[in-house]
Amino acid sequence: MAFVNEDNITDLAIKRWSTAHSPRVAELMTALVRHIHDYAREVELTDQEWMAAIEWLTATGQISNDKRQEFILASDVVGLSMLVVQMNNRFDEKATPATVLGPFHIDDSPAAPFGFDMSEGITGTPLFVTGTVTDTAGAPIPGAVLDVWQADAEGTYEAQMPEIDEARLRAKYQTRADGTYCVRTIAPLGYTIPMDGPVGKLMTNTEISEYRPAHIHFMFEEAGYKRLITHLFQEDTDYLDTDVVFGVKDPLITAFIEHPAGPSPDGKTMDTPFLVAHYDFILQPDH
Ligand code: BEZ
Ligand code: FE
Repeated sequence: MAFVNEDNITDLAIKRWSTAHSPRVAELMTALVRHIHDYAREVELTDQEWMAAIEWLTATGQISNDKRQEFILASDVVGLSMLVVQMNNRFDEKATPATVLGPFHIDDSPAAPFGFDMSEGITGTPLFVTGTVTDTAGAPIPGAVLDVWQADAEGTYEAQMPEIDEARLRAKYQTRADGTYCVRTIAPLGYTIPMDGPVGKLMTNTEISEYRPAHIHFMFEEAGYKRLITHLFQEDTDYLDTDVVFGVKDPLITAFIEHPAGPSPDGKTMDTPFLVAHYDFILQPDH
């Protein structure tokens, strides 16, 4: 048997991992071995650098728990999450594009009627998000569920507030028979990703902005359509060009139009000024 040396180690490791029982695992692992070996060669990885990387990976695992996933954050800030989203959501040009899920979605949000205020009791500028949900041929999808969640005016999500035990800035709306929906909330603000862990520490030594532009999250899981996980971003808001997780796409940028006190999209009357964002979601049929 040949002695291991710098030149044959990659082939030996690839051969070993090609024995994985699942052909897909064999493909994933042999490609991984090839790329990480190439990486180590390209940068001439030193012992100290490899140990520093192992310490960073260890800290990333140690700070993660059921509420915080530092590995997802790491994948987000190097653009890997968004690359995987793009490759797995190759929709028609007409369909609303997908973007990152992010770590703050909570399952089983309460059902909310047309115009329900999911921000009740929370300070901020009132905002109505309204429009239709249709398929790519323009047909309305009645009863489509819009699972909506967002941060408060401090940039904090309910998932970051362990003391909260009722739904806060999240709800599941449904379209009416004509495909229309209406969400009442407060205008979101841009916020920073969690910077107190190993990902933040690494970024502190760069010129990377840690901010995400103001956005609201939406998820659709309709039978007969591809799952859509997306955001709406406020037009002209800060950080659209520098979103730390690479999540912004042009068709998702929406004007938040100022309205004086008076009739509002929920069919009622507001006694303070408010904002309206109009957005028509288009779902991709799954066949
Ligand atoms: C978010 O939009 O909630 C988010 C996405 C990726 C990383 C951190 C936060
Ligand atoms: Fe978010």
